[in-house]
Amino acid sequence: MLMKNDRVSTGIYGLDDLMGGGFRENTINAIRGGTGVGKTTFALQYTLYSLNRGEKVLFISFEMSEKQILRDCMDMGWGEIKDHIEKENLKIIHIFGEDLTFPSLDLAEMIRTSIPYNCHKIVIDPLTHPTFYTEKEIRKSLSTIFQELRKIGTSVIVLEEPANGNQTHEASAMPLYLSDTVIYLQNLGFGELYDRTLRIMKHRGSKHGDSIYPYTIEMGMGIVIRASDKQIDRVKPKNIFDDMFNDAIEKTRSMGVIGKSLSARIELLQKNWTRDEDPTEVLKLVLREESKGYGKRT
Ligand SMILES: Nc1ncnc2c1ncn2[C@@H]1O[C@H](COP(=O)(O)OP(=O)(O)OP(=O)(O)O)[C@@H](O)[C@H]1O
Ligand SMILES: [Mg+2]
Repeated sequence: MLMKNDRVSTGIYGLDDLMGGGFRENTINAIRGGTGVGKTTFALQYTLYSLNRGEKVLFISFEMSEKQILRDCMDMGWGEIKDHIEKENLKIIHIFGEDLTFPSLDLAEMIRTSIPYNCHKIVIDPLTHPTFYTEKEIRKSLSTIFQELRKIGTSVIVLEEPANGNQTHEASAMPLYLSDTVIYLQNLGFGELYDRTLRIMKHRGSKHGDSIYPYTIEMGMGIVIRASDKQIDRVKPKNIFDDMFNDAIEKTRSMGVIGKSLSARIELLQKNWTRDEDPTEVLKLVLREESKGYGKRT
């Protein structure tokens, strides 16, 4: 069981708290959305946050050249990106999706040859595929490249939402189910604060907020999530029930080997109990069912 704290900060103000501390290590994290929602801003913010903490980043751009990226960063007030390039902590490669003959092999090769030493973060903005590929080929190629990326570290992959809004289209949905985490950015245009919203659609192995969170894009800062106190409270573990959890853990002590793993699982539940509901009934049920099995084995 994975118990260590293996979280990687997203760098997006207000997001880590909604995601149990951030991305998980060695995962693929997809940021999806239509044009102009802030996907590149997200990608660059994650990059900058990592760089400023002494990490290295490989930024693969299928759209903008290094020069364009630098200009956007300057506009945003993130001028230090330039120093990070000079110090070779950030490596930007600009490629065209249509130039890749065998996407997974070509990309893997490109990553291998250009990744800075000791770099555990890769950003791809946006991930595109040659249009002549079949779905089967794309799936195979993505699956291969994602596996490679997981070995390297924690990646952020930008996915563009098709302009026709056809979200169920196989080829565009595929990278989503191959990703460990999917964050959806949307520009609803309702007006004021709720214009831009963020949803965590999936976050494997993690508890996460399931509301629609408003965000703004601020000069100098980038994406700032504006979750309400109520929304934040909903994802905060509640410690008012600690006595109930401790009682249940105490009861596992007479359950031998099963009790040992069960107590660890109860602790995990305790850490993730975000509801106002008293857990006593749930704990009673679990203990009753688990002791049934235990009785039979001995
Ligand atoms: N310096 C800035 N200050 C405030 N808002 C900004 C700034 N720069 C960009 N934005 C906002 O962010 C939006 C675009 O952000 P970004 O380029 O990250 O979007 P995207 O989803 O990557 O779009 P694309 O489809 O072009 O790739 C702009 O429409 C603008 O509203
Ligand atoms: Mg972009």
